[in-house]
Amino acid sequence: MNKIKYAYKFLRHILDAKNTKGHGIHSPYLYRFTHNAIYEKNPFYVFSQIETLRENLYYDDRKIFIKDYGTGNDRESRVMDVAKTSLKKPKWAQLLFRAVNFTKAENVLELGTSLGLTTSYMASVSKDIKVTSLEGSEALAKIARENFEKLEIENIELVVGNIDETLAPTLSKLDKLDLVFFDANHQKEPVLKYFQQCLELSHAETVFILDDIHWSSSMEQAWCEIRKHEAVTATFDLFEMGIVFFNKNFPKKNYKMFL
Ligand SMILES: C[S@@+](CC[C@H](N)C(=O)[O-])C[C@H]1O[C@@H](n2cnc3c(N)ncnc32)[C@H](O)[C@@H]1O
Repeated sequence: MNKIKYAYKFLRHILDAKNTKGHGIHSPYLYRFTHNAIYEKNPFYVFSQIETLRENLYYDDRKIFIKDYGTGNDRESRVMDVAKTSLKKPKWAQLLFRAVNFTKAENVLELGTSLGLTTSYMASVSKDIKVTSLEGSEALAKIARENFEKLEIENIELVVGNIDETLAPTLSKLDKLDLVFFDANHQKEPVLKYFQQCLELSHAETVFILDDIHWSSSMEQAWCEIRKHEAVTATFDLFEMGIVFFNKNFPKKNYKMFL
């Protein structure tokens, strides 16, 4: 999607959302989710540790070879360039922390680790939760592991390989999924396929969070199909991310908001 079209869509989204901050949401749980996981501003102590690590990555000029199963664009890149261009910015990564915290998730799955920053945020909520994160590039996974060590985070299992092949065996080792963050392939078919696979382990309280739902028309189509899926009830469209709920007590409704 070209930049002008994307900017236009974003402006339309803001007008539609009118920064509702949860107004018009009648479900008490969804209302609290909005306030505690999306709009809450108070920092947790781990945020500054992870953000210091991010700052350091901005100066890391090591060259790595990236096998990119998402775009097919295998390339050499500097760690600093990956850190500046491929990772979720702090406010979104912190939303993930708050969502894991609010939902009291025990089993968290992430598709797309990269340097492990969002993984670190989610795993920092509690030592008792298990975070599994899938990444295709061995070189990125190596640096992500270094980062987990620097942050002294031990509750992450990193699985390296093409998610097309690693997701099924990973899911077969888990009993349930409480929260899934989809941030790997940004194309309709793989997103829908991974969504369907993860759905098998979901339950009424599970939350799926999808990145870049308006990044391309292909991603918008995936988001549209997910919203219509019979298992899905409420959805939050934050433009940059989409949040999906499955609880049958919630209305089947899409709420637009922005952060
Ligand atoms: C946007 S980055 C993830 C950023 C990370 N979640 C963060 O914000 O800290 C997406 C990652 O997904 C990986 N990826 C994309 N498609 C994949 C696939 N099919 N199998 C494995 N990894 C994949 C890429 O290598 C890339 O590192």
